[in-house]
Amino acid sequence: MYRKCLNCAESIKKNIGEFKPEIAVVLGSGLGFFADSIDVKFSLNYSDIPDFPISTVKGHSGKFLFGYYGGRAVAVAKGRVHCYEGYSAAEAVMPIRVLRLLGAETVILTNAAGGINDSFNPGDIMLIRDHISLFIDSPLIGANIDELGARFPDMSGVYEPRLKKCASSVAKSLEITLKEGVYAQLKGPQYETPAEIKALEVLGADAVGMSTAVEAIAAVHAGMKVCGISVITNMAAGKTKSPLSHKEVIENSKKAEKNFCRLLDGIVKSI
Ligand code: HPA
Repeated sequence: MYRKCLNCAESIKKNIGEFKPEIAVVLGSGLGFFADSIDVKFSLNYSDIPDFPISTVKGHSGKFLFGYYGGRAVAVAKGRVHCYEGYSAAEAVMPIRVLRLLGAETVILTNAAGGINDSFNPGDIMLIRDHISLFIDSPLIGANIDELGARFPDMSGVYEPRLKKCASSVAKSLEITLKEGVYAQLKGPQYETPAEIKALEVLGADAVGMSTAVEAIAAVHAGMKVCGISVITNMAAGKTKSPLSHKEVIENSKKAEKNFCRLLDGIVKSI
């Protein structure tokens, strides 16, 4: 796996030369619009990188953008792969490890999530305080990649306190209501049942999704600072009478577009 990630990084370097991203941003389902405001220097489709995992879901176009945002060197991963597509957790986090190998020290992980906390509404933005990854495989299963990090990495502060503070103060100054909570990752691809959502609620989850926790684990393992932001695109199963649909998820992510972009703008500029 390490060799595969190194090869991907080498192949990207052939395209981006000396460019070294400082901050990486992973844009989730329907949240790709942030990419439009980047001063793009290099753009690379995932499908042009040998051995790189490719997303198969509609609305998850897969490419890396390398360039500048507010004077900072950034790498944006527009689209990601998920375990429900048949990838292992270790394959799903390859983009994170490759971004680390390219030099990124901080990663902002974004996703669409279902709201479990009753005070949330579709269109809300939630800062991830912590996560629950008990229902998914660890991306660190298998021989440890010593070059990246320790066999038994500490997970007591996955979402970096300074970045959380930074996100909260940016939201405050922009008068954006930023909810905060615990994100639970499930395997999917089916949405949860109401009973599963009740169980997650008892466990302390505020939002649920199918990505991000594995990425955060891989990022912390590799020594990156992590910031996590969820856009609440729907209330989770059983919280409303209407059935869940991917269409609703995409539509509601658009509703949050403006504030999501303003928030990311402020965070990237103040990191
Ligand atoms: N559940 C799981 N993943 C999701 C949801 C949900 O309700 N909404 C967006 N991604």
